[in-house]
Order: sequence, then structure tokens, then C-alpha cells
Amino acid sequence: MTSIPVSASNDYNVLIERGLLDRVGDETAKLVKPAKAVIVSGPNTFSLYGERVTASFENAGLEVLSFVHQGGEGAKSLDTYGKLLNFLCDNHISRSDILVALGGGVTGDLTGFAAATYLRGVSFVQIPTTLLAAVDSSVGGKTAVNLNSGKNQAGCFYQPIAVFCDPNTLKTLSAADYRCGCAEIVKYGVLDGGKLFELISLGHISESEEEVIASCVRIKSKIVNEDEFDRGTRMLLNLGHSFGHAIEKCSGYAVHHGDAVAIGMAIIARAAAEMGYCSADCRDAIIKALKKYGLPTETNFNADELFEASKADKKISGGKMHLIVPERIGSCRIESIDIDTLHNWLC
Ligand code: GLY
Repeated sequence: MTSIPVSASNDYNVLIERGLLDRVGDETAKLVKPAKAVIVSGPNTFSLYGERVTASFENAGLEVLSFVHQGGEGAKSLDTYGKLLNFLCDNHISRSDILVALGGGVTGDLTGFAAATYLRGVSFVQIPTTLLAAVDSSVGGKTAVNLNSGKNQAGCFYQPIAVFCDPNTLKTLSAADYRCGCAEIVKYGVLDGGKLFELISLGHISESEEEVIASCVRIKSKIVNEDEFDRGTRMLLNLGHSFGHAIEKCSGYAVHHGDAVAIGMAIIARAAAEMGYCSADCRDAIIKALKKYGLPTETNFNADELFEASKADKKISGGKMHLIVPERIGSCRIESIDIDTLHNWLC
């Protein structure tokens, strides 16, 4: 088993092992002694893995309840969040009980936000079942729901007590969901360079899954250790995300997060090369890596539409936006730009 420590407002480990799903109850019981576990999951994930995770917690002596949301980005809403809080209340879940996020980024973000706010905080564990959640969203304590104005507009930093990643769960992902995880992996490759980007460029993500997940989690852990609350270095993890979120919003969330981030990375790589921040080779390497996994690199939304949608980005303050710009493979910088000049980056 690979164990990667994360040091933040509470310290925890990310455990990675095939077959771990059947031991999540025992692993949790090593950390805390809850009477009840509430599994939060989408319908597909719950039908695939709900029974095994329930059995694991029951075998560890817990009473298990489940809250199955409607699935998809629509579940990251104030409505579902309210329903989840009322479910916890109606079932007398106490501060010493535990929430279990079983699924991808939507489930993790929703569950984490409910865990942070219900009774002013109950413990939760993350069990990522998508590649995107395994390499990125389950680690680091960002929790949120969407508002009408944009993505992740209501949320907080709240760390899980553990992340249990069983790479066997990735076998049931659709090609589209797998591809979305690859977009975040390309992001880590561009940030870190070296062996990880080499492996990605060769198209070897799926045959090196455990190694790739562990590499991304180690990079993220280092960044979160340095800057848990996203005031500096952690912003680098937003490479491709500002325009990605704008694309998601413009599409009414029909374009999935990973695809949108891929397009966002391609837009910023093209603009960075055009403005002299990086070489044409760097731009081409990023776009080639994205294409290797069938990820999109173009959008039909025009610069005006993306500009309007970007204005709601929560990283804007004082008329400035932080854009993450590649300088070379293995090095990106945080560029604070005037919002009025954002248009230039989108053309
Ligand atoms: N997903 C980016 C971050 O956790 O900061």
C-alpha cells in the first residue's frame, strides 16, 4: 500500500491500494470511533460499490446509512446540500459520527461542504472512484457547491480525516470520465515536468495508474502543505481552470470539468506562446499531451462569452485576476492581470 501524508489544518494520509474498498471500515476505525457512517454517493457509483463499502463499515461495527444524490454537476447545488443536511438531522447524526464521500468530484465537494457545516463540523473520509477525484479533488480539503453565478461559489476549506483510493474502481469509468481525469494529470505534468510529463506524453497513464496517481497526490500534498488556503502556490493548481470554469458555465455544465480544463489549458498555452511567456515548443507539447488522451483543445464559445463568464470567477479581487501561465514544461507562474485585459488572453 502507498501512503502519502498531507499536512494541513489536520494531518491525514492518502492510502492507495487495489482492493482497499473492502477495508475502508477498518482503516476508518483505526482513526476514529464513530457509531454511524453516512455514505454519500451518486446513483451509478452507489449501485456499483455501495454494498461493498456498506459491508466494510458494518464489519467494523458501524451502523450505516446512505444518501444517494441525483448524480452529475446538478447535485452540487444548494438544494441537494440542504437535503443532505436535513437527512443528517432527521437521522440524528452526531458530531462523533462520520460522513463518507464515495464517488467523484461532485460527491466529494458536496459531502465535504456538508461535513464542514453540519453541527459546525463532523469528520469525513474521501473514497474517490474517478481518476479526477483520485489525482486531485479528493485531496486538499476544497469543498463547495455551485451558485447560479458560477462554479464552487459557496464552500470552504475542510480536510478529510483520510483518503482511501482503490484504483480498481477506475475500471468501471466511462471513456469520457477517464479522459477527464487525464486532463488533471496533464495539468500536474505541466506543473512538475520531469518523468511524470514524459510518461504522460508517451500516452502511458492507464498502464501506470498507481504510479501516476501517487505522483499527482505527492505534488498536491507538497503544495497544500505550503499553502492550504490558496493564497499563493496553491493557485498554480488552477492551471486551465479559470477559462475551464467559464466554458463549463457557458455550456450550462454540459461540457465536463476535465474537458473544460483541457480546453482552458490549451487556450492559456496558445496565449502564453503568443505573448512570449513560453516557447512554441512548450505550447505544442501541452496541446499534444492533451490530444494524446482524446481531450478537446478548442471551444465554440467566443471570447466575449468566455470573458463574461470569467467575470464571476472567485479569484478576481480588486479588478485583478490570477491567471496561471506556463513558462516551460515543469514551470508555471501566477500572473496577476487587469480584468480589462483578460479579453486579450481569450482571442
Ligand atoms: N483543485 C485545485 C485545488 O485543490 O487547489
